[in-house]
Amino acid sequence: MSGLGGRTVNLVEEGRKMLRNLFLIALVLGMLVGVLVGVAACGGNTGDTTTPAASTPAPAPATSPAGTPTQAADDPAAQFASLCAGCHEADGSGGFGPDLRGEDNAGRVAEQVRSGGGSMPSFSGDLTGDQIDALAAWVVSEL
Ligand code: HEC
Repeated sequence: MSGLGGRTVNLVEEGRKMLRNLFLIALVLGMLVGVLVGVAACGGNTGDTTTPAASTPAPAPATSPAGTPTQAADDPAAQFASLCAGCHEADGSGGFGPDLRGEDNAGRVAEQVRSGGGSMPSFSGDLTGDQIDALAAWVVSEL
């Protein structure tokens, strides 16, 4: 009885050792897999970060050429030459309309351009409010 009992205990002990070893092996394998997955995830993140960084400069150059024609259309000097110089002369010295070189109030100039007055037509149909304000500021500072 005692011999059988001892052998049974030994078998149970060996079974426990095997289970413990399997557990350790599984633990090590799990850690290895975890490290590999972590490395793969980091590699993937690096790729994701690189892709938007590479695509970000692309829209930027596309915006600049698109903005250039808009700036040309919003150029107050060009607007003055085409809309105002016919009556006020290219240098603003006046002709059919009065001399604008002494103008120092952009708000009054903008109001005149917006609403017209006397023999001068309104330009609110040709220019936006922002364009009129920019043109008025240009008249005050550049003429
Ligand atoms: C059709 C001719 C004509 C055009 C085009 C014209 N003006 Fe005039 N402008 C006049 C006349 C005429 C007057 C004088 C108005 C009056 O009798 O009160 C005047 C007056 C003004 C005044 C007020 C000057 C003052 O001393 O009171 C400003 C500012 C002015 N014009 C700016 C402009 C600007 C800026 C443009 C272009 C967007 C422009 N004008 C286009 C004919 C013109």
